[in-house]
Amino acid sequence: MQRKFIVGNWKMNGALANNETLLKEVANGVAKMPGVDCAVCVPFPYLAQTQSLLHGTSIKLGAQNVHQANKGAYTGEVSVSMLSDFNCDYVIVGHSERRNLFGESSQLVAEKFASVQKAGLLPIICVGETLEQRETGITEAVVTEQLAEVSKLLGEQSFRTSVIAYEPVWAIGTGKTATPEQAQEVHAFIRKNIAGFDEEFGQALCILYGGSVNPTNAAELFSMPDIDGGLIGGASLVAEDFLAICNAGQK
Ligand code: PGA
Repeated sequence: MQRKFIVGNWKMNGALANNETLLKEVANGVAKMPGVDCAVCVPFPYLAQTQSLLHGTSIKLGAQNVHQANKGAYTGEVSVSMLSDFNCDYVIVGHSERRNLFGESSQLVAEKFASVQKAGLLPIICVGETLEQRETGITEAVVTEQLAEVSKLLGEQSFRTSVIAYEPVWAIGTGKTATPEQAQEVHAFIRKNIAGFDEEFGQALCILYGGSVNPTNAAELFSMPDIDGGLIGGASLVAEDFLAICNAGQK
């Protein structure tokens, strides 16, 4: 099994005046946890501040979105080469909030995924079903569709240089977590769906769980064989909580 990977997703939160305290506390805590890998995905305006505060730490920097084109007349958008300028390692693509609130299709998400990889950064691609889809029994079909466009565009092997985050929409920010068994079932499905019977490929895939992960439920979720870490929203804004989750991921 791989080392666990814990990624904070600040979403549209943070403030220039408060980020330093949070990041310093997190960096100090993570420095004492050699058994876990960490990253934080911050809003664009805080990339420079975060880059400088994380300098010399083991914590990687990420962004939460990107435009698929490399440059041009796209007012208000940010390209992957701009993210590279700040030494970002990761970019979240296809978060359910982007898909649902901003109408991003799986095809667009795949284009963003491609643009991130082309620049040598790692996409964190999010997939997951709504409550209605789960209750209708189409969870597997939904995540398959969300990943299929990437396979179509770049081939299955492209997932080797990416991170996949399974985030059931009904569990995001709701305090309602998938049970470890529910999450494990979908994670195992995703691994199999991408890697087939290629065991080495399957093991190389990094599949995170996201959706109301907190200090109380993290250890149990991370104990499941196909859960390689977590994508943490709300709890990543509180140093103590984020560190407790990182600690739960330590070997
Ligand atoms: P949450 O968000 O931990 O606040 O549920 C997770 C996410 O949306 O990435």
